[in-house]
Amino acid sequence: MCGIIGYAGGGNAAENVYEGLKRLEYRGYDSAGMAVIAPSGEVKVIKKQGKVSVLEPYIADIRGAVGMGHTRWATHGKPSDINAHPHSAGGIYVVHNGIIENYAELKEKLIAAGETFISETDSEVIAHLIKLNCDGNILTALHKTAKMLTGSYALMVMREGEHKIAVLKYRSSLIVGYGEGENFCASDRPALAGKCDKISVLEDGDFALISAEKIEIFDKDLTPVCRPKTENALTAEKLGLNGCPHYMLKELREVPQTVQNTFNSFNEVKDELSEVLSGTKRVIFLGCGTAYHAGLIGKKYFETFARIPAEAENASEFRYKDPVISRGDAVFAVTQSGETADTIEAALLAKSLGAKVIAVTNVPQSAITRCVHAVVPVAAGAEICVAATKSYVGQIAALYLCALTFAGKAVTPKEFKLLSELPAALQKTINNINVYTLAHMCARSGGVYFLGRGYDYAVALEGSLKLKEVSYVPSEGYPAGELKHGTLALIDENTVSVVLITDSALAPKSENAVEQVLSRGGKVAVITCLPAVAKRLEGKAEIILLPACNKFLSPLVSAIAVQELAYRTAVILGRDPDKPRNLAKSVTVE
Ligand code: F6R
Repeated sequence: MCGIIGYAGGGNAAENVYEGLKRLEYRGYDSAGMAVIAPSGEVKVIKKQGKVSVLEPYIADIRGAVGMGHTRWATHGKPSDINAHPHSAGGIYVVHNGIIENYAELKEKLIAAGETFISETDSEVIAHLIKLNCDGNILTALHKTAKMLTGSYALMVMREGEHKIAVLKYRSSLIVGYGEGENFCASDRPALAGKCDKISVLEDGDFALISAEKIEIFDKDLTPVCRPKTENALTAEKLGLNGCPHYMLKELREVPQTVQNTFNSFNEVKDELSEVLSGTKRVIFLGCGTAYHAGLIGKKYFETFARIPAEAENASEFRYKDPVISRGDAVFAVTQSGETADTIEAALLAKSLGAKVIAVTNVPQSAITRCVHAVVPVAAGAEICVAATKSYVGQIAALYLCALTFAGKAVTPKEFKLLSELPAALQKTINNINVYTLAHMCARSGGVYFLGRGYDYAVALEGSLKLKEVSYVPSEGYPAGELKHGTLALIDENTVSVVLITDSALAPKSENAVEQVLSRGGKVAVITCLPAVAKRLEGKAEIILLPACNKFLSPLVSAIAVQELAYRTAVILGRDPDKPRNLAKSVTVE
């Protein structure tokens, strides 16, 4: 949610910043900008409404070896050239990711003090405050300013005449990267892929000064500190499209590898997890959007395998409901990015009330990993498409293993066989899936309803979210049994109902829902791994037949079908599935 990048070195700052912004575009793409210090000390700024590529025609004209940039997801003030970052005041230039909650009050005071504002953003107050607080030392000015801010901020600041960048991190992610004769700072790892060998993750309250020669890090009291340096394993090749037209398709194709890697990584954390979970009497899954949907499946795994009470809740709701938490509760915070503000705050709240908290995340060293008792990795690798695909399936795989481990089930030879065969089954699904006809039906429809029971209902919710997110076709997910309690009123010949049926015990009931929709003139598609269901409904509904699958593992297989459907529908409608309108990945604001 907004991406920022800074560069200081012997290279061309504008080119480095531009490249970094392209790599951070998944965090926001409604406007972009950069500031570069020319050798003379003068700062050149370019900022424009639109995706990062709007800056490309200008970068050849910007000379300088120190610079910083921003790609925006608007929170305060509509996307426009003026609201784009950097913001400046009196020779101070600022890029900001986060929200300044007390900006209105600060702005009022600053205006009363004679400052003039030109944007509608919350971020502009920071530039004015630093200007007024600066007596020649940019770091102490930033330190003084930090004490006046309420909210979340990853900040980079430049000052005319100074060939360095001052940074500050508080509740928005920021890393620094150590190169050869050049140094970097950025919101996230992809920006630095292939750029430097080592990185450090800054902690809340940290300041840093970045120049071509060195990176100096200071804690909240401006005392110099060292933060651990780790290998920067992400390469530029890993971030490529690998021959696919979109990241969404590329990442969907990476599902089998994700599941295999997640299984392998789980062995390293299994013992620690068992220890943290010992004595657990109830589990709660927290997450937002797709991660919440993975939690719904985790809940079922724990109920089924461990026979203990389990709940799943939107992290954003949990935070504000005065939750009832007791010792003996374990909370799984599910988050791809490890940065989602609502999930982090909900996890912290649960921890403060006495719960054991476990993060299930795709990003090692992300913010969530630093505030929990244990971390279960999802080994999906970088996910660039704004819509989650492989990470969702990886989360389900991780939660499956968590539930089995907690239930104390040594994996039986039968289960082991199922698990070891799963990546191949997922690959087979990817190779054979054909949703083109259904995607055309959805693209032409007035609304798509995803229906299912049990595990299928959880996947139905995710199918619906994915479809509306990337294709903008109106869609809802419902329990198949609830159809007759209201939703049937929506069914007509312009609607498509996609019914998921993967559990033979529930199949007859879900088939009733198919018949009820057909009787009212609605179009129906059935996603099933049960040949008997396919046979019975052939000719009545569009059938997507998946490989036969154990019912507990079916969500991983049917997830591929609904993700592929969303992707194909988006492409038919000419949408950009990687950057859906109004959205961004890593939702660091509340
Ligand atoms: C949907 C999607 C979002 C995220 C949600 C949580 O495709 O990607 O719903 O799942 O914003 O993000 P994380 O998992 O990073 O906490």
